[in-house]
Amino acid sequence: MGKTILGIETSCDETAVAIIEVSGNIITVRANLVYSQIKEHRPFGGVVPEVAARKHLEILPEMLLKARSIWKKDLKTLDGIAVTLGPGLVTSLMVGFDSAKTVAWLYKKKLISVNHLEGHIHSGTLPDVEKGDIKKIRFPALALVVSGGHTELIMMKNLTSYTKVGETVDDAAGEAFDKVAKLLGLGYPGGPAVEKAARGIKNSSYKFPRPMSKDTKTLNFSFAGLKTAVRILLEKEKNWKSKKKEISRAFEEAVVDSIIIKTNLAIERYKPKTLLAGGGVINNELLRARLKELAIKKNISLLISPKRYTMDNAVMVAYVGYLNRTRGVTLKRFGELSAKPNLEYGEI
Ligand code: KG4
Ligand code: ZN
Repeated sequence: MGKTILGIETSCDETAVAIIEVSGNIITVRANLVYSQIKEHRPFGGVVPEVAARKHLEILPEMLLKARSIWKKDLKTLDGIAVTLGPGLVTSLMVGFDSAKTVAWLYKKKLISVNHLEGHIHSGTLPDVEKGDIKKIRFPALALVVSGGHTELIMMKNLTSYTKVGETVDDAAGEAFDKVAKLLGLGYPGGPAVEKAARGIKNSSYKFPRPMSKDTKTLNFSFAGLKTAVRILLEKEKNWKSKKKEISRAFEEAVVDSIIIKTNLAIERYKPKTLLAGGGVINNELLRARLKELAIKKNISLLISPKRYTMDNAVMVAYVGYLNRTRGVTLKRFGELSAKPNLEYGEI
């Protein structure tokens, strides 16, 4: 018998609802709705927490109703309700978490909390079709999460053991893309804008540093200096507006190189059998290509998130909810928990 899980995700600026069915090794996505609040945040050039929370509050109820009507079944038949507990923006998380609590209470369903980052990690195992095989992780595995809020390397001994072995000491890679896009006047969100601007440029005449890459003792990353390097260049270079494409390419290469250098180091150090990769920046074509090359060179299997699940979505939340449910992680007393903006691995 398969299990049907409703997933709710509101950790940042995407409001997302999904219904999945998992039977053995097969996942079927019954509904997958994402409302990206780009329009609401564009005037500010970044996510404004209060604006995000208000929009989640306004739109989540109708998205839940829409998911139900797409699925065409009664929520009474669900096997559980999965929701992002953290990490993320506290006011955004609260909207999703408290709504999930209410729905679970109303329908007398199990409430399953999910770590958003586990969602990004496991999105690498999901098929690039509505119905298909869930890919097997061979342990030990190394996971790379690169998003707007996080850039980290995690070692996994099994499905429940996550050890962070490297992380950014300042900005996340996605945040650096967003900030540099703003400096270059390329718009918001920055990652896709910089990628588009850099398209077609093979050899940029600019070169930015690869921060912390020579320090092989640590698997940590740093991206704030890279953003400063771009700012300094723009201050010096009078005609930078005509060089946006070359600057974008050089910046993209510096970020991707920095990520690949530390991922390579982590593979040499921990000898994983699988490399998982997820998060919004994994959408980047150059990064995807370089990760594929690295996996071939190191002879490990790469489970990279299909593009449809790189950005925040509720399918990944529902799927980790399913994993958590099968390992008995459900909340019995609804009153005992609320959103955790700084949730760590292993806290659920
Ligand atoms: O995973 P995500 O949707 O949200 C967080 O959990 O943070 O990631 C959003 C981030 C943004 O910073 C966005 O600029 C970046 O992912 N991003 C990209 C690309 N597409 C999205 N960065 C580089 N290249 C892309 N193609
Ligand atoms: Zn995310």
